[in-house]
Amino acid sequence: MRKKILVQQGAFLPKLEARLAAAYDVRHLPAPGPERDRFLSENPTQGIEAIATSARFGVDAKTMQALPDLKVISSFGVGLDTLDLDEAKARGIQVGYTPDVLNDCVADTAFALLMDVSRRITEADRFVRAGQWKQAQFSAATKVSGKRLGILGLGRIGSAIAKRASGFDMEVHYHNRKPVEGSPYTYAASLKELAEWADYLVVASAGGAGTKGLVSAEIIDALGPDGYLVNISRGTVIDEAALIDALENKRIAGAGLDVFEREPHVPAALLALDNVVLAPHIASNTHETRAAMAQRVEDNLAAFFAGKPLISAAT
Ligand code: DGY
Repeated sequence: MRKKILVQQGAFLPKLEARLAAAYDVRHLPAPGPERDRFLSENPTQGIEAIATSARFGVDAKTMQALPDLKVISSFGVGLDTLDLDEAKARGIQVGYTPDVLNDCVADTAFALLMDVSRRITEADRFVRAGQWKQAQFSAATKVSGKRLGILGLGRIGSAIAKRASGFDMEVHYHNRKPVEGSPYTYAASLKELAEWADYLVVASAGGAGTKGLVSAEIIDALGPDGYLVNISRGTVIDEAALIDALENKRIAGAGLDVFEREPHVPAALLALDNVVLAPHIASNTHETRAAMAQRVEDNLAAFFAGKPLISAAT
């Protein structure tokens, strides 16, 4: 039987690439721009039924429109902000992604950043490496246990973060568009109310147009000079310029950031600050979780071509 044609966007783990290449006739889609336009106009696009992509690259409407036979998109990642779901729905394209399997690692990273910025671990590491311990004592940090944790977005990942907070005897409140039925945590009717209450505000909401700039200057100021902000969602959810201004002027105590507005660009102003911990979008990046995500990319495609429902469908 002729292999189904699959278009791959971006690089995957070598094992996943090998498995896709064994199962499909794989073509590589260049990044958006003139090269992609050339690929789409020079290659016969008929018969291309699938795209394997990632949360980083997504698939835009223009690409879907250029592939008349496209029926399924399988994305590596939980974020859907780079995928034009409306266009996919309108064209009857099924979209698979990789939720659930990454909840633990993303929640662990949120806690790692929270602990790090609060207890000043990487700052202390810099202090030791610079040989400063021989001259001075490292000054005190901020206690985490027993504090108030505010979660923006009590979804799968937000709930995993809340679960970890119980080990630190933290009280948890959250804000969502609507209260989560049956949740043991207290609902804050507004993000401002949550920020005013919290010692730590952790952003775990979905990214995309609906959440752009949600954590504004006003919200950051509501968190206050003793408050910490942690983001493992998308950089666009926070007004990055407002955050830098608040950090520089000590209107909040610190921030732990895994995501940024224009990745991989990290503003120089953030690099210059000691009260931030910066990570290069690694929340789900463990051997175990990335292998599970890769498996799900493959399983979603296999389910589609077997005429079964996707294991995890985004639409
Ligand atoms: C995700 O799964 O969406 C991660 O943030 C990686 O992009």
